[in-house]
Amino acid sequence: MSKPFLSIERLTQTYPDGKGGTMTVFENASFGIEKGEFVCILGHSGCGKSTIMNILAGLAEPTSGVVKMDGLEVSGPSLDRGVVFQNYSLLPWLSALKNVTFGIKARHPDWSRDKVEAHARDFLSKVGLDGDVVNRKPSQLSGGMRQRVSIARAFANHPKLLLLDEPFGALDALTRGTIQEELLKIWSGTEQTVFMITHDIDEAILLADRILLMTNGPYARVAESVEITIPRPRKRTEIVEHPNYYAIRNHLVQFLGHRSKELAGQQTDADDLRPETVRIDHTQQDSAGHNPDTPPLRAVNH
Ligand SMILES: Nc1ncnc2c1ncn2[C@@H]1O[C@H](COP(=O)(O)OP(=O)(O)O)[C@@H](O)[C@H]1O
Ligand SMILES: [Mg+2]
Repeated sequence: MSKPFLSIERLTQTYPDGKGGTMTVFENASFGIEKGEFVCILGHSGCGKSTIMNILAGLAEPTSGVVKMDGLEVSGPSLDRGVVFQNYSLLPWLSALKNVTFGIKARHPDWSRDKVEAHARDFLSKVGLDGDVVNRKPSQLSGGMRQRVSIARAFANHPKLLLLDEPFGALDALTRGTIQEELLKIWSGTEQTVFMITHDIDEAILLADRILLMTNGPYARVAESVEITIPRPRKRTEIVEHPNYYAIRNHLVQFLGHRSKELAGQQTDADDLRPETVRIDHTQQDSAGHNPDTPPLRAVNH
């Protein structure tokens, strides 16, 4: 079998525990992500999600193990990997527009000023920011607008991999809902691969092709990979009607409520811990004779 686009191999992270010993956050975590996939990771606070993401971004080095993208080992940050954090890391002295053009200029030094600006405006408008508002500085924008700028900036650079660390965590529910749908729209028009951390189960079901579930630390594990068997395009108001929605949701709630704790802290001898694939699909049993054509699950072909 060919290697996935992104391959996480035997990743281990330990930190000093402050008492002269070490604390193992996770050990020998291995998983893959295919090109064009949207993968969310869910797990309790402190299990190591941000640590994994920072390693994927090249912002941190694991204690051991490797990450390979397109077969090449990740080391150090790169324009091929775009990152969006919860606390929108916009440059405060630049306008929304300039925050976006900044990265595009770095990626395309040969582009004319007009071309760079048109490209930036196009992406800002995809997240609902048009007109004068793009000339405002981050301090003059609402939290939702700032996060829209961060998303436009990340997508405008066409990174091969987009990493999102609880990007909507600080937003109110209504704003979050709108931006989630904008994110889906912008993503489905690209072939970008997304790895996103969230603590919101419904957000993960709406957005992801697959949800990785992490047990609590120390010795946290990516225990399961749950396929989201709900066809795209998805709308938050419609997916709740899908026969698989609550079955998947209950599975995730049970995992986070019970099994993430039961499995916590278990050191194993395995040197290559891969998540178990979970596929919940009631349509195939329910629809015998009614709907033999299962709609495609992905919006992106690859
Ligand atoms: N630089 C560090 N030094 C020591 N411990 C750290 C450091 N960064 C993270 N940790 C610890 O590692 C664990 C995982 O942290 P993190 O990846 O931020 O978790 P999550 O994003 O899942 O909430 C936590 O117990 C945290 O306290
Ligand atoms: Mg975190």
